[in-house]
Amino acid sequence: MTMSEAKKTYYLTTPIYYPSDKLHIGHAYTTVAGDSMARYKRLRGYDVYFLTGTDEHGQKIERKAEEAGTTPQQFVDRIVDGIQELWTKLEITHDDFIRTTEDRHKRSVEKIFQQLLDQGDIYLGTYEGWYCTPCESFFLERQLVNGNCPDCGRPVERVKEESYFFRMSNYADRLLQYYEENPDFIQPESRKNEMINNFIKPGLEDLAVSRTTFDWGIKVPGDPKHVIYVWIDALSNYITALGYGSEDDSKYERYWPADVHLVGKEIVRFHTIYWPIMLMALDLPLPKKVFGHGWWLTLEGKMSKSKGNVINPVYLIDRYGLDAFRYFLMREVPFGSDGTFTPEGFIERVNFDLANDLGNLLNRSVAMIDKYFDGVIPAYEGVVTAFDGELQQAAALAVEQVEKAMDNMEFSVALTALWKFISLSNKYIDQTQPWVLAKDEAKRGELASVMVHLAESLRITSIILRPFMTKTPQKMWEQLGINEGSLTEWESIKTFGQIGGQRVAKGDPVFPRLDMEEERAYILQSMTIGMKPAQDDQSGAAAGAGAGSAGDERANQAASTAGTGGNGEAEVSDQKEEITIDDFAKVELRIAQVIAAEPVPKANRLLKLQLDLGYEQRQVVSGIAEHYKPEELVGRKVICVVNLKPVKLRGELSQGMILAASKDGQLTLATVPDSMPNGAIVK
Ligand code: MSP
Repeated sequence: MTMSEAKKTYYLTTPIYYPSDKLHIGHAYTTVAGDSMARYKRLRGYDVYFLTGTDEHGQKIERKAEEAGTTPQQFVDRIVDGIQELWTKLEITHDDFIRTTEDRHKRSVEKIFQQLLDQGDIYLGTYEGWYCTPCESFFLERQLVNGNCPDCGRPVERVKEESYFFRMSNYADRLLQYYEENPDFIQPESRKNEMINNFIKPGLEDLAVSRTTFDWGIKVPGDPKHVIYVWIDALSNYITALGYGSEDDSKYERYWPADVHLVGKEIVRFHTIYWPIMLMALDLPLPKKVFGHGWWLTLEGKMSKSKGNVINPVYLIDRYGLDAFRYFLMREVPFGSDGTFTPEGFIERVNFDLANDLGNLLNRSVAMIDKYFDGVIPAYEGVVTAFDGELQQAAALAVEQVEKAMDNMEFSVALTALWKFISLSNKYIDQTQPWVLAKDEAKRGELASVMVHLAESLRITSIILRPFMTKTPQKMWEQLGINEGSLTEWESIKTFGQIGGQRVAKGDPVFPRLDMEEERAYILQSMTIGMKPAQDDQSGAAAGAGAGSAGDERANQAASTAGTGGNGEAEVSDQKEEITIDDFAKVELRIAQVIAAEPVPKANRLLKLQLDLGYEQRQVVSGIAEHYKPEELVGRKVICVVNLKPVKLRGELSQGMILAASKDGQLTLATVPDSMPNGAIVK
């Protein structure tokens, strides 16, 4: 192949994530967006290079490792294993995974630092400022609050410390010029103004690019008491992964500059100020685009372990499938804006868009081809019915709009355009009324045309879905009787009417409808369990997770009272931290007698129990219906956790939980002899 025939390249990256904890839906978001774009560009014939990885140095990791009683390297190794498993689960098609603890990265970062030092862009100076020892942080005079640490309020000390500095200000003008000449460099546009007005215009200060207060990092060449600042280390990954500064830099030559760095909005500053300046100093080309997307939030604001509202992708994928999860992420929120995750929002997307619109179109079409044409898709004969032309135009428009949206990284816009076409295809069935045409032999040609139009619309839909969904397109092809090949390529959707002659195969619904109440309960519970389950996918962080006992109580309650999970929540209890006697004393356990029991309507696993605690009666909903008949329970004495925060399960109030042992699908209530009075304390 000569150079001019060579494929166009497309290099895209995600941030390299901190392996300080397991990753949540927010990290999955950036990575799925990157993967959708990578898959799209490959379909469009590009030679794609998609990079992700982990940012493993720094004080935070050093401390977490210490808390966990391991070396930093052991600590990150475990978490990185979990992160890589998560990407496998999400079917991420990255071409490389860079770890900043790898030699290939470290060697190249040392070279970069050395060059900047030799050139005089970096110099050794002294840092003077205010230091808060408990927070291990430096502050400028103006950041102090009444002379104290702005974070913890304690007194600060004046310190003078040796540090290497980067002369950032030398490059401010060139940077602004680059912004001007490349209006698409920072996306969305609003973030550009923020960078200019808040950071560049007020004047760039020289940046301290080394630290002497901790050890876990790449050492400054020739001055090992200094560790290279983590952002210099981290940002370099985008070129070290391509072999920059190594013996084989062919990938660097081929793929750099990056077509896009995908990042969350909070790190746009590092990617659009520090990184371009580093590259200018190294005399290297600048990335073409930095896209700063928005954040996933919950109704309580930011996700956080202490609020118990962290969304763990594994729960959603295990229960609803990968494609529903990926679709939801890319469809729900415009890329660039913040979005609020709610269980209802998720369930409605699955029910309306996937089960109803897409699922029904496929089912109805395949069933009709089966019924009216013995399962064989009729040949395409052009525009036959009064509605064929409009449907064909809608298909062409969808393709055009999707391509345009993808060029602008507007994933949700692309999917909205596709769903408009899916809705129109459903409407086309109502307009053409195939069941009426089928009654009239003279209308056989029209009926055939309707069938092939529907099959073709489904084929086009399946191909547009390929960047976003990893399994559904294949399932659709199986039902439509087409094999992967020329009929599944992107270019094939630009000419309507390629399908015909295939034998359809009825299949299961691609997306079953979800029960709002049941699934809402499941998702809410999974949010309270958050990142804690002993899921093998991201197992590494469990030891360092440090969740409080409240989290554990809720986790257990979710596991044994609701029982809607079925993916191992009960196993949470396997990996608990040591607690003190005081921690244990917070749990109030008492003997209770079951005085009535009945099933909860439409919830196979739940029983509603009335308990007598001696001093009061209360209701507890328990996930034991598959193991006990209501009548078996009445009269039994059980152990109840009475000071658990009440919850509503399937609309029923549950004030506490009863203890049970379970393993491998078996469950037995912890019972006590009848002689023990109701209300007696268990400890
Ligand atoms: N290690 C740095 C990045 C260095 S890149 C040279 C870092 N790591 S991180 O683990 O904190 O990951 C931050 C990134 O994860 C965000 O920029 C974003 O891509 C993603 N997200 C983390 N939480 C998020 C949300 N709540 N919502 C959306 N994305 C978020 O910063």
